[in-house]
Order: sequence, then C-alpha cells, then structure tokens
Amino acid sequence: MDCGQQYPVNVVIYTCERCGGLLDLCHDLDTLRQTITHDTFDQRLGTLEAPYNSGVWRYKELIYPNVSNDLIVSRPEGNTNLYRAPKLAQWAGVETLYLKHEGENPTGSFKDRGMTGGLTQARVLGMKRVACASTGNTSASLAAYAAIAGLEGIVFFQNKDIALGKLAQAIAYGATAIQISADFDRNLELVREVAQALDIYVLNSVNPFRLEGQKSIMFETIQQLRWQVPDWIVCPGGNLGNSSAFGKALHELYELGFIDRMPRLAIIQAAGANPLYRSYQTNFTEYEPMHAETVASAIKIGSPVNARKAMRTIRWTNGVVEQVTDQEIMDAKALIDRQGIGCEPASGCSLAGVRKLVDAGVIKSNETVVGILTGHILKDPEATIDYHDGDLKGITATYPNRLHRSEPNVDMLRAILEPHETASA
Ligand code: F0G
Repeated sequence: MDCGQQYPVNVVIYTCERCGGLLDLCHDLDTLRQTITHDTFDQRLGTLEAPYNSGVWRYKELIYPNVSNDLIVSRPEGNTNLYRAPKLAQWAGVETLYLKHEGENPTGSFKDRGMTGGLTQARVLGMKRVACASTGNTSASLAAYAAIAGLEGIVFFQNKDIALGKLAQAIAYGATAIQISADFDRNLELVREVAQALDIYVLNSVNPFRLEGQKSIMFETIQQLRWQVPDWIVCPGGNLGNSSAFGKALHELYELGFIDRMPRLAIIQAAGANPLYRSYQTNFTEYEPMHAETVASAIKIGSPVNARKAMRTIRWTNGVVEQVTDQEIMDAKALIDRQGIGCEPASGCSLAGVRKLVDAGVIKSNETVVGILTGHILKDPEATIDYHDGDLKGITATYPNRLHRSEPNVDMLRAILEPHETASA
C-alpha cells in the first residue's frame, strides 16, 4: 500500500519485502467498470447457488475475482440484517439510525466474512495449518472455517479476559488452542514468528485476503439501502481491520461509480485502548502503541496492526476517530440488548460513539447513520450478567434488569410481579 511494489497472489506474504508496509489486494477497476453493474449483485439476492448465496461471494468480482469456486470455503456467511432502530436513534439524537448486525454471521461475529477469504486463500496456497492470535472472535471463526476446510486451526489466546463463548467455540470446533501469558499484541507478534518458523499460514487481519472478505459488510449494507449512501458509518476499532476494509470497499465502490459520494466513517475506540484516537488528535503526525485495558475484551488492543490502513480510511472518507469509556460502552450495549437486538460489549462502541459525536455536533441530527454491531450477545454472557447485577468493576448499571430470586411460593412471586398491590395490601 505504501511503495507500490507488486506481488502475485500465489505467494505466502503479509508485508512488503521492499518497504515493510501492509499489502492490499489490487483489483482491475478499469475492467470491472465495464463488466459489473448494480444488477450483477441484485440478481444474486436470494439465490441458492453457491458461492453466490454468501453475503461475501455475492460480490466475488470485488473480493477475489479469479479464484476457482471449488476452492472457496464458505458456510455461507453474511446476509446479516440491517435493523432500523428508532428508539436508539432518539437516544443517540439522530432521526435515522440503522444497525447492521454482524453478530448474525455463522460463528457470531463479522470475522466469518474475513475468514472465508483467508481460508480460501490458504487452500489456493496449499497450506495445511492456519493460525491467529485473537481476543476471541477471530479464533472462533478460524477454528470453524479450518474445520470445514479440513485444515489444522491453531489459536493463541491471552491468559485472561477471554469471553467464555469465544473460548468454548475455538475448543469445540477442534482448533489447537493455546493460552499464552502475554497480551493480544505480543501474541500477534508471536504468531507471526512461529508461523514463519513452522510454515503456518497467518489469518489475522494483517492478511489482505481477510480484509477483502470484510469489505462485503459495506457492499451489503449499501445494497440493503438500495445503493443509497448513508451519511455516516460508525464502527468499533480494535486491530483496525474492519475500518481498513470499509475504507477500501467504499473507495472501490466510488471509483467504480456504484455510489455517487462517500459516506463518512467514524471509528470508535475504547478510552483504555485508543492509540488511533490519540494519533488522530495529532492529525496522525504522531502514533504511539500503548498498554490496553477495557471491559470490551474484543478490542483490548494497544498496537493495532492495521493502523496505517485505518488512517488511509479516515482520509478517504473524511472520517473521524472518537473514544468512549467503558461505562458508555456497557450502557449503550444494555440499550441495544433491551431492544431485543443484543450485541457483545465491543459493539456498544458504535451506539455510544454516535451519541457522543451528535453531542459534539460532528454528526447532525438529520443525517442517516449506520452503526455496525460486530459480535453476538451470547459471546460474552459474563459481562452482560455482571453489568445487570452491578458486579462490573468501576461500572454502574445505568439500565439494570436485576435477576429476581424467589422460593416456589405464590405469595413471594406475587410480591415480585405485583409489588405495588402487595405493598398496599
Ligand atoms: N468487535 C468485535 C466483536 C471484535 O471481535 C473485534 C476484533 C472488533 C470489534 C474490532 O475489530 O480489530 O477489525 O478493529 N476482534 C479481534 C479478534 C481482534 O481477535 O477477535 P478490528
């Protein structure tokens, strides 16, 4: 992405051998301009035919055009709902808010959209083992897709703060799961070192084929809006793979004439894991990795590997970076949950971020906003229950729904279900 050096797609490579920068998959936009239209993708909606029944491979021409369909590893993923959320819109201060629920993917997070790209590439390359370091969701997804592809999945977890749902998935899907006494950032370095030494394919978001798959979140959202562009897309930022993919997707749609203007992207980081936010404050002239701490364990990342691509996204989309506290994250999550939609803590950043940016006058109340929900509510049940019980350290349950306890006895149940009547009786 920096020096323009090119490499063929059939070599195992993650960063440029010349300048050390990140790699992009380059598409032939001039040819694509002649060969695809909105209709190409609209005609595939609802198809039962693989791989186009996937919400990733529906856009195959924009993901990995020349790959043989026989090599594609798909569940199929994507085709997630775009919810209109009027009550949450009101709370955040905008007229129109949609929530794109990426927790509705096969393993419960957006990672599946990347993993279908990554595992497909692993088969193209003939790799036998695939690995990642993960705060949880990437490993759940890798484990499932490796199982489908018949490859060995290997996942590196940090020692603490892994949401139980994610750990359970990786183990159950049969990955070789290793807990390492280091944080995510160190584990990501380690997985790259080990992979090189042992001929293992790395499927973290440093892998450009992952990001190609994740671009489909933008393609699908805008197609669901009948190719109308929202004013804002708002998403959480951890390792910054998603925001990087979104920028590339929007840039390509615009270059191809599929959209007539760029939406603005807002990346929301947790205040305790905010290296991009801090860099944004200096206009990206300075950038410092940090030690990360946040209740949203999915984004507890202090040295995001895709920082430079995320900065490019901000430039391409005239975007912004904001931070939200753990309190704001958990309160926003509680409100999303209460709508019957639900999400894991990190996804709360999107709604909390919208409200904060509206308060700051950056997002205007008459603008149309799409918030991305990245993970399913069942990924991290402990955080949810602890919030409602008032047991989350340093966080007040602003919107509690406490669990009642009762003996098997009608009077006690009446006192819970009709408290006013009981008190006055
Ligand atoms: N939301 C959820 C639920 C996530 O799992 C992640 C990242 C993010 C947001 C942040 O996305 O990294 O593209 O900026 N989870 C990774 C993992 C790091 O290992 O599962 P990002």
